[in-house]
Amino acid sequence: MTDPRPQKTILRALAGEALPVPPVWMMRQAGRYLPEYRATRAQAGDFLSLCYNPDLAAEVTLQPIRRYGFDAAILFADILLVPQALGADLWFATGEGPRLSTVTSAADLARLKPADAIHDTLAPIYETVKILARDLPPETTLIGFAGAPWTVATYMIAGRGTPDQGPAHALKAADRATFSALIDLITEATIDYLSMQVSAGAEVIKLFDSWAGSLEGQDFDDFALAPAKRIIAALKARHPGLPVIAFPREAKHRYEGFAQATGADCVALDNSVDAGWAAAHVQRDGCVQGNLAPGHMVTGGPALVEATRAVVEAFRGGPHIFNLGHGITPDADPENVALMIETIRRG
Ligand code: CP3
Repeated sequence: MTDPRPQKTILRALAGEALPVPPVWMMRQAGRYLPEYRATRAQAGDFLSLCYNPDLAAEVTLQPIRRYGFDAAILFADILLVPQALGADLWFATGEGPRLSTVTSAADLARLKPADAIHDTLAPIYETVKILARDLPPETTLIGFAGAPWTVATYMIAGRGTPDQGPAHALKAADRATFSALIDLITEATIDYLSMQVSAGAEVIKLFDSWAGSLEGQDFDDFALAPAKRIIAALKARHPGLPVIAFPREAKHRYEGFAQATGADCVALDNSVDAGWAAAHVQRDGCVQGNLAPGHMVTGGPALVEATRAVVEAFRGGPHIFNLGHGITPDADPENVALMIETIRRG
């Protein structure tokens, strides 16, 4: 009889196993801190052309795997491709981050496409997943992803990133019906999009709710928790056994119970969370991911080694996937990433 347990380290941690050495990958591991990424992006022309070029998107996904031997590869794409596939205009102004046409009324919402019309635009992404499923080393887990509805909605409503998600909160207060209908549309599109990624070969799904921390009380239940629960239930119904990582960034005390309430197999922690608290209150329910401060990838040195060991130590008693608390920044030194990995693996 073959052993029914998953063999890849990430899948073992997601199934609840506490491993002697935690598996590791990094948010934004394919990114501007790597010279080889910058070269491939230049070859593609710009960031969005890179996302929609399956060969080059697969190439940048593989670059950090070749350089560091991470335990997981994350599909190279962006959470804002879903709004674009729904009919929003999307562009990246150099040095200014993303820009989109805005959705601030029922009329704007009515101009968007239905959820099942996204696949023409997103077909190249499924192609990237297929290439990766074929070309990744056998021990490397392939993670697909999407933005959670609230976070995606904050960009669609404001037309850009905002420090306090003010425009989204304003629409929620002024016209809750339109706001909720937008959340529902994104939720449905996200289920279809992620399901296609899994069919193409993604082994794990991660849901990024980068702005969950600005939702309070009932709003957190309605717009962070409920959509995640719906997406996870639908995905698991279509793909039994699919592991899902949820990242309700800056959810603070609401990290506690998030896995149980949504059905997520793992909760990713940002670096504002005390690891000792999270071990007692979040890891109790299953696997956790995180949560080294990304700044250490810039500053390095003995402080990096010490902080890396502290994260490993805090989560040693249960299932843990080592990661940063947020994406690595463009000013990071690639040597510091190597030092982090060496510290995790050699102790
Ligand atoms: O992590 C990975 O390596 C996989 C690819 C990935 C990207 N974006 C590539 C990217 C993933 C998982 C994302 C998620 C994403 N995108 C989030 C959620 C996670 C988070 O960071 O909170 C959000 C909010 C976005 C939207 C987005 N995309 C913003 C706000 C920006 C500009 C900010 C920045 O870092 O420049 C992007 C651009 C982006 N997405 C880049 C990359 C590598 C940089 C673009 C470039 O190369 O010029």
